[in-house]
Amino acid sequence: MKATHAFNESSDDGIQKKKRRLNERRDSLLPQRQELPIWAAQNAIIKLVADHRVLVIVGETGCGKTTQIPQFLQNMFEKTKGAIACTQPRRVAAMSVARRVAEEMGTELGHKVGYSVRFDDMSSPSTLIKYLTDGMLLREALMDPLLKKYKVVIVDEAHERTVQTDVLLGLLKQVLDKRDCDFRLIVMSATLDAAKFVTYLGASTAAYVQGRSYPISLFYTATPEESYMDAAFCAIIQVHHDEPAGDILVFLSGSDEIESLDRLLRDRAPAHKAGSNNALQLYAVTIYASMPPEQQMKVFEPAPEDHRKVILATNIAETSITIQGVRYVIDTGVVKSRGHNAKLGLDSLQVVPVSQAQARQRSGRAGREAAGKAYRLYTERTFDDLEPTTVPEIQRSNLGSVMLQLKAMGIQDVLNFDFMDPPPRASVIRSLELLLGLGALDKEGKLTDEVGLLLSQLPVEPMFGKVLLASSLMGCCLEALQVVSMVSAENIFFFPREKQEQANAARVKFISREGDHLTLLNVFRAYLEVPRKDKSRWCSENFINARSMSKAVDIHEQLKARFTSLGLACTSCGNNLDPVRKALTAGLFYHAASLQTDGVYKVITSGQQVWLHPSSTLRGRAKPSCIVFSELVQTTKQYAREVTAIEKSWLPDLVPGIFSATSKITKG
Ligand code: CDP
Ligand code: MG
Repeated sequence: MKATHAFNESSDDGIQKKKRRLNERRDSLLPQRQELPIWAAQNAIIKLVADHRVLVIVGETGCGKTTQIPQFLQNMFEKTKGAIACTQPRRVAAMSVARRVAEEMGTELGHKVGYSVRFDDMSSPSTLIKYLTDGMLLREALMDPLLKKYKVVIVDEAHERTVQTDVLLGLLKQVLDKRDCDFRLIVMSATLDAAKFVTYLGASTAAYVQGRSYPISLFYTATPEESYMDAAFCAIIQVHHDEPAGDILVFLSGSDEIESLDRLLRDRAPAHKAGSNNALQLYAVTIYASMPPEQQMKVFEPAPEDHRKVILATNIAETSITIQGVRYVIDTGVVKSRGHNAKLGLDSLQVVPVSQAQARQRSGRAGREAAGKAYRLYTERTFDDLEPTTVPEIQRSNLGSVMLQLKAMGIQDVLNFDFMDPPPRASVIRSLELLLGLGALDKEGKLTDEVGLLLSQLPVEPMFGKVLLASSLMGCCLEALQVVSMVSAENIFFFPREKQEQANAARVKFISREGDHLTLLNVFRAYLEVPRKDKSRWCSENFINARSMSKAVDIHEQLKARFTSLGLACTSCGNNLDPVRKALTAGLFYHAASLQTDGVYKVITSGQQVWLHPSSTLRGRAKPSCIVFSELVQTTKQYAREVTAIEKSWLPDLVPGIFSATSKITKG
């Protein structure tokens, strides 16, 4: 705490006042809590937990699982030492729910109730209920394999089956074997496939909490829509025009779609007043995972009077958060999904059709408080052809960091780790090859001290971790940390459609001829020079996302602290940035591609064709003959995103095991 932070109300008086305010808020929320379906089931749940070490709890989204169950258990195990962990697949959910529960318990966030997500820890030793991402709990398991700090671990939103959830479940199975009755495991899910969890965990029972739901009328389009974006806009206007009051929840695939629909609604919707019996105006709010938390909180606020709220959301609003007042759901039927091509070892982020289970979950959001309507912007035939359930993420992901974590936890035989649904062998092998290539594993598959151990302790993907380690040897650590922080912060630039040209012009001064990573570095450096009071103006003048920038600075502080605590040298290379490009090459070599005579790039280790992403600063100038890139994004083409020009001749020196001196691939 900074000394300059004087407390105005440091007297007892102030503390009393604050306490009173917290208590008032707590008491005012109690009636709402008592209305939740889970409240009526409290005694039954407590009895089941008393009798079983492992329990699966299933209950409709919004019935109160996430906010109430940890409180029930805290009351139940009040006398037992240790805290309660409740994991969430998403950062936003962890943060928003922690804030809510702190209010419900009448305590300040970070004290009795806290959260911990990557790069943001709001918990303290006195925290009794801690909401954290499943990834964070895995990190804690590195230091404390039996999770001794916790008396109860609740794995929430288990139906989402994220990679981290699946790894965590495997690990918790081992914890159950090794710890006594002082440890309870609760798995919570919003869908009815509890049997699978029960069998896998060897639990003897599942608890079903009866939700409250009202009938929902389903509508499909008669013919396939050409553009689901246009269709979504029309559907919003139509519902607004024809239907009585009630908020509209629209599911889209990602932030770009959400932002662009939001703009369209602001520009065009005022012309479309609601029907004659209805003088409402439209009021659009947006929510997606990469949005800054304070902004995310806005969706929970009610619309101004005489307005109808339209919530434009990603699948984040399917199960992990609940927004009150929704009566109409518009489902575009798509979701952005991480994919991984094990053969090529490439990741992609693609817009794909939802599964039937997801479509049902989305529609269900319309009937929480009264009868509702759901509009599917696809045909019934299309629905019938959808996959019944979503393929678990672990079966379509890059497993590099997961395998590294397992190895770091001392789990050697990763190929036979007891996963609920094992990932394809090819993916596991490929990720082991990557780790071998990075020097994180030795030939026997053991974690190496000089690289593997360090990588497992850095909160970034192994490839970027390697960039940092390499930079420390090359004397450009400061710069590499800044680049990696900018990459982690995401969405640095924004491009308002109506001001494209100004945005491009503003960006010119940051552009590095050597590509996007160094451009990001230039932005970071320039930002540091700007006096604090001018930062926000500077950002808007330069079409830079101020929140992403402050996030980048924050990440940079933390990464740097972590880095120095590992005993690594943190030096700067000044203005000669070649070492930075070399460090990038040393870490991202699996994403090195060379230019072919046809003007297309080919990934050297896999032969995959890739194109420069439209956002790259290398577009529209002479193409460098060799590049490395952060990730592959598949939309209409396979795009290399965040690209840096490198010299091909660096590869054999920097990555000797993979590229031989003749620059032919010796291993791929
Ligand atoms: O986990 P589950 O979907 O079963 O429900 P929950 O997240 O515990 O939410 C229960 C209720 O708490 C919701 O219906 C909301 O009314 C309220 N809530 C809220 O107001 N703000 C939050 N950040 C989270 C929940
Ligand atoms: Mg929940």
